[in-house]
Amino acid sequence: MSQIQIIPTQPIAGQKPGTSGLRKKTSVFMEPPYLENYVQAIFEGIGGVAGQTLVVGGDGRYFNDSAVAVILRMAAANGAARCIVGQGGLLSTPAASHLIRKRGADGGLILSASHNPGGPEADFGLKYNGPNGGPATEAVTDRIFARTLDITEYHIWEGDAPDIGLIGEAHLGAMVVEVIDPITDYADLMESLFDFAAIRAHLKGGFRLRFDAMHAITGPYAHEILENRLGAAPGSVVNGTPSPDFGGGHPDPNPIWAHELMTAMYAPDAPDFGAASDGDGDRNMIVGRNCYVSPSDSLAVLADLAHLAPGYADGLAGVARSMPTSAAVDRVAAAKGIDCFETPTGWKFFGNLLDAGRATLCGEESAGTGSNHVREKDGLWAVLLWLNILASTGKGVSELMADHWARYGRNYYSRHDYEEVDSEAANALIADLRAELPALPGKVFGALTVERADEFSYDDPVDGSHAAGQGIRVYFTNGARAVLRLSGTGTAGATLRVYLEALETDPAALHQDPQTALADVITAIDAIAGIAARTGRTGPDVIT
Ligand code: G1P
Ligand code: ZN
Repeated sequence: MSQIQIIPTQPIAGQKPGTSGLRKKTSVFMEPPYLENYVQAIFEGIGGVAGQTLVVGGDGRYFNDSAVAVILRMAAANGAARCIVGQGGLLSTPAASHLIRKRGADGGLILSASHNPGGPEADFGLKYNGPNGGPATEAVTDRIFARTLDITEYHIWEGDAPDIGLIGEAHLGAMVVEVIDPITDYADLMESLFDFAAIRAHLKGGFRLRFDAMHAITGPYAHEILENRLGAAPGSVVNGTPSPDFGGGHPDPNPIWAHELMTAMYAPDAPDFGAASDGDGDRNMIVGRNCYVSPSDSLAVLADLAHLAPGYADGLAGVARSMPTSAAVDRVAAAKGIDCFETPTGWKFFGNLLDAGRATLCGEESAGTGSNHVREKDGLWAVLLWLNILASTGKGVSELMADHWARYGRNYYSRHDYEEVDSEAANALIADLRAELPALPGKVFGALTVERADEFSYDDPVDGSHAAGQGIRVYFTNGARAVLRLSGTGTAGATLRVYLEALETDPAALHQDPQTALADVITAIDAIAGIAARTGRTGPDVIT
């Protein structure tokens, strides 16, 4: 007879959740009791799971299935009443968020390292989402981290977890393991928000699309929604079979890693619309024929035209963007007379605004866009909202962008990433820049003069919580801006992110290459922060 085992353990250093849960090398997670300690710390940090219903699923990366089995055995041993699991242990992050909300679950465990590569040599991750379906707040992640530091034992069911390859219910001790189809509920939600008939007619009329699932979780969702329900031509979804190492690729939908899609969209016979999503399905990239749309611009266009989709026909209560995201959406919000909130990086900061009904649409420059339909960013949702807008207006992507910039001006935008920088050098760069901030206003760097400079902190207008140290901002007198912060999702060294923005309202200057339009800001921030000298790099590793 199987039973609960209580296994003595010791704290493991470094189990501190970052921007989005705990991410480490897969080999680190696979070495017992790394995963076990962290799962126990989650359960204790949220006050125990006795009698609770939890949603469990992940992006299918290497170790996903074994980790799901451990989580189920530990949930059972900690007294959970029910775990709802995606078939095969699979759930996209937005689908998991939806499931938590739809089923009234107490929370969920999502296994993913998002856009980081997968495989035995690559990355793994785990995060806890609360009953609203959103990532745990700072307060909850702090409590989880505190438990990792004083953990003495973990509880695990001795017997094997049931087969999660088959839809249906099984028992693990007193706990029910309910295996569900991971696609249908999410696809139904999408169908309730968008005008599928209009999109279907548009596709029938010859509009061609290409969706690159990057060998990740959105493949099966996109096959069902885009091809089966909307009638996109078979083959419109490419790289649509999830693989544990994402086909050996880097499942991050940006022009660098989704170069296959970029090549197709800039070819003579390019389809009308291209899109991609990331490892766990919460990010999106939008690209028209010969027209890449920056995520900040995408957020602004969606905020402007969301009312064309039935789910948003009543307009938006407000919008929110992360601080480093461009102010393009602010201009739309101002024109519409709605609130625009500026939050720290990370989707967890949008949760309260969405719950309180103060923001309807949210977005980040890192290819994340979403709305109050779930509490995560949502890749396919953004693709469908774009398709709805394209079908409703009958316009192409580049035409919509030109219209948008002509009306609102263009916030030229780019992010420069310096990856695997020596941690000490990166920390020193930020610390020295912080110390320099009061002396910057009035100083001239090349063509630009600093107007003001500060370090961003955030007071949540809903629960009053305070988040400090959320990125350094340098504003120039011409309206340009540079932001610097260190990534909270990397697993090796430090990643320095430099966010560059310049507003252009001259109608004759709206169609430049962003790197050219931003040249003065790039030069000025390098002079201010000494990026090249301190990182020892001649240029960024990734430009998006
Ligand atoms: C990155 C992005 C951030 C996003 C997060 C999770 O975090 O910059 O916008 O919310 O991934 O997808 P970072 O590595 O910058 O801490
Ligand atoms: Zn992701």
